[in-house]
Amino acid sequence: MLTINEHYLKLQASYLFSDIAKRVAAFQAAHPDVEVIKMGIGDVTNPLPQACVEAMHRAVDEMGTVSGFRGYGPEQGYEFLRKAIARNDFQARGADIRADEIFVSDGSKCDTGNIQELFATDVKIAIPDPVYPVYLDTNVMAGRTGGFKDGRYEGMVYLDSTRANSYVPELPREQVDLIYLCFPNNPTGSTITREQLRVWVDFARENRALILFDAAYEAFIRDPGLPHSIYEIEGAQEVAVEFRSYSKSAGFTGTRCAFTVVPRACRAFDSRGNKQLIHPLWNRRHSTKFNGVSYPVQRAAEATYSSEGKAQCEALINGYLANARIIRQGITEIGFHAVGGENAPYVWIETQKDSWEFFDLLLNKAGVVCTPGAGFGKCGQGYIRLSAFNSEANVIEAMARIKKALA
Ligand code: MLT
Repeated sequence: MLTINEHYLKLQASYLFSDIAKRVAAFQAAHPDVEVIKMGIGDVTNPLPQACVEAMHRAVDEMGTVSGFRGYGPEQGYEFLRKAIARNDFQARGADIRADEIFVSDGSKCDTGNIQELFATDVKIAIPDPVYPVYLDTNVMAGRTGGFKDGRYEGMVYLDSTRANSYVPELPREQVDLIYLCFPNNPTGSTITREQLRVWVDFARENRALILFDAAYEAFIRDPGLPHSIYEIEGAQEVAVEFRSYSKSAGFTGTRCAFTVVPRACRAFDSRGNKQLIHPLWNRRHSTKFNGVSYPVQRAAEATYSSEGKAQCEALINGYLANARIIRQGITEIGFHAVGGENAPYVWIETQKDSWEFFDLLLNKAGVVCTPGAGFGKCGQGYIRLSAFNSEANVIEAMARIKKALA
């Protein structure tokens, strides 16, 4: 008899964003006349930067020639992209990350979901609440939790991110082995200072733990004092893996390119307490299970580091940040407490109401899609998230509709 992985049965309904998409599709079928404005899932709407388009075209043309054709590329990514990443994203900020510590991939969702495979089933995991659901769900699938009770999985250590701590969690009071952090944060849009991040790095060093640092939104940081990478903190290379993506910074959600940084010094331990390096393990996983990102897409990603590419990405991000300001200002004007949107594309709004009820209200009365905070965890109950990824005109229209609906 073939039995299934019963840990899957512990998962809550469907994946959050699939759930939302289903509800929106049902609403649209019932109200074909309403022009729905989507500010739910953080999916970019603006076209690719011209520098990326041109680089991709050139690469496709190369692939159509005998001399320029390429078959399987290196699973870890082409040297030209890994070098550009190391130089621009890390060394330029004083973080000593080298090209061979970078693993190019097709997305941070996959990488943050897959990395848990490297660790034992009984490791203790600390996870923020609210949180990007992938970190939690993939650990549930792998059998690292008990059942779901009162809005939480047994066996997980939840790090509450609330108004009281400005949505930056405090250190856990118990021993944990694997810690997920995301800054600028999805979903709250909160940021972490260098000093706060140093506290986490020191904790990981003292407790033989590892930090999985999701920095997918670092390009949205505008406050010059904030760290862009965990490797700007001394000692982080041994205790942190960092995830980055071109999805939101260069509009690659449909193009697919991201990377994970695993420093050579990054370590975990075997069951006898001996140090084991993570780099060879991730390299083994990556080369066994992943075929690499296509050559034209990697050339497009490389183009984000050209002077035109940098300027075009910055303009793209500035546009989304301007939308975020419109959202935060509009929602604050009608009396809601809101955070985020200054160094992140998300605005986190306290609704004083059940999140899904508020979701339905916005959809039915304003034709606007948000993400219910409860979908990100127990601490998200009573909140919604609005995403700034849309056209300025749509954001202005959405805010006018929301104001009218809630008046
Ligand atoms: C989000 O809306 O939280 C993100 O778009 C999800 C993702 O990047 O996978």
